[in-house]
Amino acid sequence: MNSLAIIGTQWGDEGKGKITNYLAKDADFVVRYQGGNNAGHSIFVNNKKFSLHLLPSGIFYKNVVNVLANGVVIDLFGLVDELNELKANNFKDFKLLISERAHVVFPYHKKIDGLFEELKAKDKIGTTKQGIGPAYTDKSSRIGIRIIDLFDDKYLAKRLKENILIKNNLLKSFKIEDQIDFDSLYQKILVIRKIIKPFVKDTAKIIYDALNQDKKVLFEGAQGVLLCLDHGTYPFVTSSSPTASSIPLNVGIPCNYINEVLGIVKAYTTRVGRGVFLTEITDQISEKIRIKGKEFGTTTGRARRIGWFDATLIRYAKRINGLTKISVTLLDVLSGFEELKIAINYKINGKIIDGIPLLEEDLLKTEVEYLILKGWKEDISKIKTFAELPENAKKYLRAIEKYGEVKIAQFSVGPKAEQTIDLIKIW
Ligand code: GDP
Ligand code: IMO
Ligand code: MG
Repeated sequence: MNSLAIIGTQWGDEGKGKITNYLAKDADFVVRYQGGNNAGHSIFVNNKKFSLHLLPSGIFYKNVVNVLANGVVIDLFGLVDELNELKANNFKDFKLLISERAHVVFPYHKKIDGLFEELKAKDKIGTTKQGIGPAYTDKSSRIGIRIIDLFDDKYLAKRLKENILIKNNLLKSFKIEDQIDFDSLYQKILVIRKIIKPFVKDTAKIIYDALNQDKKVLFEGAQGVLLCLDHGTYPFVTSSSPTASSIPLNVGIPCNYINEVLGIVKAYTTRVGRGVFLTEITDQISEKIRIKGKEFGTTTGRARRIGWFDATLIRYAKRINGLTKISVTLLDVLSGFEELKIAINYKINGKIIDGIPLLEEDLLKTEVEYLILKGWKEDISKIKTFAELPENAKKYLRAIEKYGEVKIAQFSVGPKAEQTIDLIKIW
């Protein structure tokens, strides 16, 4: 099979968009398989920065078929805004397919997302408030509305009314005066569904056939392994699984159809939203990295939390996803530091543990063992080969490879495609 999975190995924002766009030049298909517009994937095309939330990162190439598979949750209004932005920038010749089975995110999902966050107050997750959790909740409660359902007037009206009744009762129980109005939402859907209709297809069959014909298919993960609903830092996670193992289910292809898994690894660590972060830095070093790396959320604009590189997370991501290679991004951001730290082990009572402790009481006892490396001063954003890197930057990459226990196939020294250095062939 000619398939490649691109997986975030940390808490998201590792540069998946940039790397997917870079690798998509050789692809036939780019497939988003989970999440929704909680994702924010930044890409530079013709010196302009685009932030994609739902659209796959192959959308700028006219020969690449971009797919939103069944595992994605789709905010119709958000999607149409993104399509309009593309068209406004003269990208009119794109190929897009949307799975009939993907579920829809409605404005009431966003409202409930925001309401639950408010109610949780200091215990809130820090979601993107894009309605992702409530939309997946409806899907697993079997009251969700799929893309295909939008085109059956009677069924749509019935399902939507049932859903609105449930949501309005929920709002009432929290003494929220503002109610959801069926008529106005239904009318808006009748208009917007016409825009997406030409893209709606049985994408599972299309991708299955494409893979059997040896077409090159790239699967673009959103979020990162530690935000996985099952294998992340629960409950501070998203509501889908960004792992490689979730691809077959979320796309509708056999589980042995994924052969290469490229982990995207930021050269340090970031996290948006709440939850455990054992290598977090809170002094002025974090501010320096935040400014240099422009570490502010693509979707929400929130300042990202910053931490040292954590090799234990990469070993974990390798175990959960079967990473075959990694791509190290944002290495250029680390120029100009006296010293850099790499977490190599977590220990409880002096004993090395595997993965992140699940319980608060264990987390409190967890110590991080660091390797301290000398930094480098030189600007590396224009280099083209590994050989041109300062000696200490080479040592830093080698340490990532050694303690992450996975081969570096590529590294990146800037947000643009040409600032990517390939070390070994990826696919
Ligand atoms: P994603 O969600 O994984 O696609 O990552 P985001 O796009 O949310 O965040 C990554 C940020 O880093 C974006 O602003 C990218 O433009 C930027 N970026 C990606 N690779 C590099 C790199 O190698 N160096 C620098 N300086 N910026 C990068
Ligand atoms: P990309 O694809 C970083 C985080 C939110 C919050 C948690 C749950 O750009 O890497 P949600 O809205 O999904 O219910 O929020 O997950 N989160 C992300 N953090 N990058 C993302 O996507 C994220 N998508 C969700 O900040 O902590
Ligand atoms: Mg992002």
